[in-house]
Amino acid sequence: MLEQSTFDTDVETMTRFVMEQGRKAKGTGEFTQLLNSLLTAIKAISCAVRKAGLAHLCGIAGTVNVTGDEVKKLDVLSNDLIINMLKSSYSTCVLVSEENKDAIIVEPDRRGKYLVCFDPLDGSSNIDCLVSIGTIFGIYKKESEEQPTEKDILQPGRTMVAAGYALYGSATLIALSTGQGVNFFMLDPAMGEFILVEQDVKIKKKGSIYSLNEGYAKYFDPALTEYIQKKKFPEDGTAPYSARYVGSMVADVHRTLKYGGIFMYPANTKSPKGKLRLMYECNPMAFIMEQAGGKATTGAQPILDVKPESIHQRVPLIMGSPDDVEEFLSFVKKHQASA
Ligand code: F6P
Repeated sequence: MLEQSTFDTDVETMTRFVMEQGRKAKGTGEFTQLLNSLLTAIKAISCAVRKAGLAHLCGIAGTVNVTGDEVKKLDVLSNDLIINMLKSSYSTCVLVSEENKDAIIVEPDRRGKYLVCFDPLDGSSNIDCLVSIGTIFGIYKKESEEQPTEKDILQPGRTMVAAGYALYGSATLIALSTGQGVNFFMLDPAMGEFILVEQDVKIKKKGSIYSLNEGYAKYFDPALTEYIQKKKFPEDGTAPYSARYVGSMVADVHRTLKYGGIFMYPANTKSPKGKLRLMYECNPMAFIMEQAGGKATTGAQPILDVKPESIHQRVPLIMGSPDDVEEFLSFVKKHQASA
């Protein structure tokens, strides 16, 4: 027989947590509705990811998405799931997905006041080799009463009301921030619920890991080259940093949040704007990072202050422990001054 003490009879699920927050903020319940629908989509994606090989969901679906990546079957499924769940939550009016060229304007009879940017399945080049992948989302509120358009969502990341990511790793985890710190929720597959496992997560002030695709070193600018060299050959008697790079943004950012250090997808001479997308990759992750006490910058300004010009725009990204990001910026300044 199951011992009483091993079973939590007052478990804090993510739905309960969000409802409690909504109640405190005297909300209408629309945000809880949105989050619940997103949770359903994430649970279904997690399920599909776990049985991708068996269900033949791996492989290329045969098209190329708007930013040139090969579209995988799982990407298509994840995108369809999120769009359908968000539309039927009656809480959204504009949706921006990595997989759709244009913003999706929700039908009038299903509209609500929230705008959502998302990358349904980030790190898709890692699907076939079974490495961790994730879903990223950022949520904004529509302030005006006018008809919703794509322009409504072209807001700096700082105006987001919530952001988060789901990581399909050795377990499925959601990191969520509604602007009052970051909380981690882990999927209990038996219950089908996300359970609060870490509250008010904070990143280390300084870490000992650097993370970027160093294969592109040929194209790095002198500030970045010198910074990386100093991480490998420190002159102050400290140990060199470890290098880690998964190539799935969600996994690389989650590790940075847990262990500290710096994650970068910087500009280089071949990709002057970097690779990562502002609206549904950099902004939600920068929101989480800042809420956890970290920093996120383009090298010239905080990510969350960038005024977006288009929904699929790219920006260079440097994020992580505050002291590490500041140290990187000091190299940028030094090189600018001597230029
Ligand atoms: O933007 C998609 C993505 O897979 C990110 O998750 C990841 O950080 C990046 O691309 C990896 O790019 P690269 O292969 O150039 O290092």
